[in-house]
Parts: sequence; C-alpha cells; structure tokens
Amino acid sequence: MTDVVPALQLEKIHKSFGGITAIKEFSLSVHRGEVVALVGDNGAGKSTLIKIVAGVHPPTSGHIRLDGEEITGADASSVRGHGVEVVYQDLALADSQPVYMNMFLGRELVKGPLRRLDKKRMARETQALVDSLDVRIPSAKAIIRELSGGQRQAVAISRATHWAQRLVLMDEPTAALGVAETAKVEELIMRLREQNRAILLVSHNLEQVMRLADRITVLRRGTQVGTRITSQTDKNEIVSMITGLQAADA
Ligand SMILES: Nc1ncnc2c1ncn2[C@@H]1O[C@H](COP(=O)(O)OP(=O)(O)OP(=O)(O)O)[C@@H](O)[C@H]1O
Ligand SMILES: [Mg+2]
Repeated sequence: MTDVVPALQLEKIHKSFGGITAIKEFSLSVHRGEVVALVGDNGAGKSTLIKIVAGVHPPTSGHIRLDGEEITGADASSVRGHGVEVVYQDLALADSQPVYMNMFLGRELVKGPLRRLDKKRMARETQALVDSLDVRIPSAKAIIRELSGGQRQAVAISRATHWAQRLVLMDEPTAALGVAETAKVEELIMRLREQNRAILLVSHNLEQVMRLADRITVLRRGTQVGTRITSQTDKNEIVSMITGLQAADA
C-alpha cells in the first residue's frame, strides 16, 4: 500500500464513563478498500469504540481523523455528513415504514413548492439500489416489520452502502442471522470493500473475521492488545490475544 492518508485514523483514544475506563490509548488506521476487524470478549469496549467514531460518545482524550481532517468531538449527524455510516447489531430501522423511507431516513427527497415527500422517486431509487446489490426483498415498498431479520439487515447495509462514501462501521452485523443470510451480508461487505470504502467490523465470529478482514485488532478489557495482518496470524493466536491465555499446543 502506498503512503496514503487513511480514511479513518484513531490516535490514543481514551474513554471513561464516570470513574470507569472503557477504552485506553486505542490507535488504529483503516484505509479505503480495507476491512479491519475489531474483536474482543463481552464488555471489552468494541461497541463503545464504534460509538466514539460515530460521534455518539465524545472521547475523553485522543484524536479522530477522517482522510486527515480532525473531527474529534463532532456529533453523530455531522459524522454522517462526512460519509460515515453505522450498521448496528440492534437494527436502527423504522419498523412501521416502507423500505424506501428507511433508505432515505433523515434525507428524504421532496418535490414541488410545498416540498412534499417524493415517494415515487425514493421508491424507484431504492428499488434500483437493492436490485443492483441483489438484495432479495418483496419490494422497496414493503414495510420493514414484514421482512425477515436477514432482509432487514440487508436493508440496513444497503442504506450504509448508499450513503457511506468513506467509512462503514459495523457492530455485529450478522449476530442474529442464519447461514444463508450471513453469507449475503458477507457478500455485501466484500462489495463495499471493492467499492473502495473503509470498513471497521466488530464480530465475535472468528471464522468470519478470518474470511473477511485484512487486519484484526484485539481489545481486552479496554486495552488494545495488538493488531495483526490476517494472512500472518491464525485463529489460535487471536483467541489467546482475546483471552490473555496461551493457546494450548496442539
Ligand atoms: N454509556 C455507558 N455508561 C457507562 N458505562 C458504559 C457505557 N457504555 C458502555 N459502558 C461500559 O463500557 C464497557 C465496554 O462496553 P461495550 O458495550 O463497549 O463492550 P463490547 O465489547 O461491545 O461488548 P459485547 O461484545 O458484549 O457487545 C463495559 O464495561 C460497559 O459496561
Ligand atoms: Mg458490543
């Protein structure tokens, strides 16, 4: 890789909630066209870190840069404005609304002097998007609550694909999904990478991490244990980094 400015650069991120330290001195770069996995046990601080990057929680100290520009302290909507989208484990979709309204949530298209919702155009553009991603849903007009978990997650990732020009943050995107649905989501992640987005992926599924990630960084109780190039490590090493125990010699 040439000496390019990373899409995301985290420098010495520290986060405490009251007296509790959730993240200590965390540093990481994610480049365009790269998937970096963030792994660690329950409570290690992974979701907290995603929320810090997304502008939900400000870091207590440290720096966040997007393509070199410092955005530390920016709120969630301004982070989105910088081309960063989050796909959460517990889906943030409006259940009673159709797929197309979810696709344009907070960015609705309007028409005419009265600025009425341009539902036709939103539905048309949404249909074209899901078709291009080969996402199988009954229609762009289907109501979210009538979709399966996998279809909903595919809608959430399609939305991120559409709006995230720079970086996609994913917190356990396949935790609740079956085998076929997981495969579809993994395909969408690979497509995002091909489209030169930077991806930071939280997953407990180490098989998945080994399949998708270019690099893996490990958190243990808020401390960054290390970062490995996937092709230069294996599951045993990652497990021992996560647990702090030596892997048993086979
Ligand atoms: N808003 C908050 N206020 C206080 N403490 C918090 C807050 N959010 C997270 N924490 C604490 O920070 C630590 C890390 O939590 P976090 O949710 O980031 O873990 P995680 O790695 O995502 O775990 P899991 O794999 O279970 O999702 C935990 O000890 C948690 O209790
Ligand atoms: Mg979490």
